[in-house]
Amino acid sequence: MKAVLLGATSGMGRALSRLLAERGESLFLLGIPADDLSRSAKDLEARGAREVGWLECDLLQPKGFAGALERADQALGGFDLVVVSAGLFGSQERLEADPEFCQKLLAANFANTVAFCEEARKRMLPRGGGTLCVFSSVAGERGRKPVVLYGAAKAGLTRYLEGLDHKFRGEGLVTITVKPGFVKTSMTEGLKPPPFAGDPEGVARQVLRAIDRGTPVVYAPPMWALVMLVIRNLPRFVMRRIGF
Ligand SMILES: NC(=O)c1ccc[n+]([C@@H]2O[C@H](COP(=O)([O-])OP(=O)(O)OC[C@H]3O[C@@H](n4cnc5c(N)ncnc54)[C@H](OP(=O)(O)O)[C@@H]3O)[C@@H](O)[C@H]2O)c1
Repeated sequence: MKAVLLGATSGMGRALSRLLAERGESLFLLGIPADDLSRSAKDLEARGAREVGWLECDLLQPKGFAGALERADQALGGFDLVVVSAGLFGSQERLEADPEFCQKLLAANFANTVAFCEEARKRMLPRGGGTLCVFSSVAGERGRKPVVLYGAAKAGLTRYLEGLDHKFRGEGLVTITVKPGFVKTSMTEGLKPPPFAGDPEGVARQVLRAIDRGTPVVYAPPMWALVMLVIRNLPRFVMRRIGF
């Protein structure tokens, strides 16, 4: 595999990049800042990656996406896997109080992630496709009090990825939507983990299996599939009353 990863310097993206490295795949890291990318690239080389390149690419600067993917494409000789695990999180309270940060988060997690995926799609489709694996969230499944704004961005992203998979799978572009529940990473540091909290390494193993099999949706850890089945079917008046 020749994989481009946006946001693999920490958390679930880093765990997945390490599994890919251990299989001897060729990798190209995009993200910020340069120091973290360089350190991660060395780590992945030591773990067995065939080759590792990197380039700064800020999810908040969509003008840079086409150039960054072009460089990755040239370095790898045509990528066939793109993983997007970059994203922002903020509590509902912080997002309500800070419209500037809220705007950034909505742009990063929805519009800019979509723009990045569109650039990746345009490159992969003409050569027969590949795999686009993007981290959304269970937060996008229902309108929920603790994640009104973060969840809205992830809901939009999930729908976009679903549509992409319906439209282009027949032409060889497999789209995988990862919907983590609560996973212990730097993003959730300081938050109280719920009973089914996962770890990045376990999620990465699940996601790699999905990439190999072309599974369109991954709930991680798997227990969240059951939790969200219940949540998706709760009537609105119940959702309005509970704090979940
Ligand atoms: N953890 C959870 O419980 C959970 C639950 C549901 C969904 N998710 C989603 O899963 C994905 C991965 O989350 P994670 O928990 O693994 O988070 P994480 O450890 O914080 O990793 C996020 C990655 O995104 C990068 N990033 C942040 N801002 C960026 C920017 N402007 N440009 C480029 N890269 C940027 C981070 O780089 P820096 O480290 O330099 O900031 C980091 O490498 C996210 O989309 C998140 O919304 C997570």
